Amino acid sequence: MKKRNLVKVRNLDRLFDVSKPLLNRIIEREERKILRAVDDVSIDIEEGETFALVGESGSGKSTVAKMVVGLLPPTKGSIEIDGIDLSDKSKIKELRKLRSEIQMIFQDPFASLNPRWRVEKIIAEPIRAFKLEKNEKAVIAKVAELLTLVGLDPSDGRKFPHEFSGGQRQRICIARALASKPKFIVCDEPTSALDVSVQAQILNLMKDLQDEFSLTFLFISHDLSVVRHMANRIGVMYLGRIVEISNSKDLFENPKHPYTKMLLDAIPDLEMSGKERNPIEGEIPNPIDPPKGCTFHPRCPFVNERCRKEIPMPIEKDGSIITCHGVEEGRIGK
Ligand SMILES: Nc1ncnc2c1ncn2[C@@H]1O[C@H](COP(=O)(O)OP(=O)(O)OP(=O)(O)O)[C@@H](O)[C@H]1O
Ligand SMILES: [Mg+2]
Repeated sequence: MKKRNLVKVRNLDRLFDVSKPLLNRIIEREERKILRAVDDVSIDIEEGETFALVGESGSGKSTVAKMVVGLLPPTKGSIEIDGIDLSDKSKIKELRKLRSEIQMIFQDPFASLNPRWRVEKIIAEPIRAFKLEKNEKAVIAKVAELLTLVGLDPSDGRKFPHEFSGGQRQRICIARALASKPKFIVCDEPTSALDVSVQAQILNLMKDLQDEFSLTFLFISHDLSVVRHMANRIGVMYLGRIVEISNSKDLFENPKHPYTKMLLDAIPDLEMSGKERNPIEGEIPNPIDPPKGCTFHPRCPFVNERCRKEIPMPIEKDGSIITCHGVEEGRIGK
């Protein structure tokens, strides 16, 4: 049976005005510069699944994440979580409740922890803010329970963030995220700042917690080997657009978009099968002045005239969503 969609993102755009100040523009006769960080992104995330967004630096992953948790307003498009539109101001009460059910975990656990607070206060904050326990005694017991849950000791609550290692600090962030009983957690490169062995421990912890609390994850990473371990479905971003959405197995075994193939070719060969590793070719174009037509065309080995002129629209193919003229025409991937 198909599960219900918890998150519905539709035609999301986000522009940033990156112009110089008005006076400079007048003197230097420069036009206003607008950067399109996110361009027509639509995503469905089913309850209980991990949907990953991958893509090179600057492709718009974090901007999508910030909009989905409500930290950044979209320029256009809509975000619906658990049936509630984030922009629907008439639903103040529902939105407030929803706020407690959506959490975000960031790359740098140190920057997101108040250095002057003891860990117990950090973890207790959402519990107090959303009045989730009936009295102080229950709050303290809950904090101890959460610390244990993420593999720390209840006595660690007395310490300050700087007394912990990077991996332990990320455990504290996870405990705090769990404190408000979330349904949906957005993780933006949660382990990229950690050593590989610590990374694996944190990823496993996140998976265990997902099973235990039926969490839904939006998981962001530029590292395909991490994504492979975590995600059911994967969206590949390029210059603000999603070029492919496939389930994890299909994406790794049968990538359809030429950019996905390029990303996979660049992963180190873990199985030591002797396969050549091809570095990603070409550079990401300037997002302020992106290429016409398909924005990937200057790097694409299958480019033709149509790709240089016409923007491709997403189509469904063998259960994947692909944005590529070549795939649509059957020129690529048979
Ligand atoms: N507040 C902002 N003002 C202006 N430009 C921004 C702002 N935030 C992001 N951008 C630009 O939007 C584009 C997408 O940025 P974003 O941080 O979403 O990419 P990303 O995929 O998360 O990259 P990374 O892998 O480096 O984290 C980039 O070109 C970035 O410079
Ligand atoms: Mg980012």
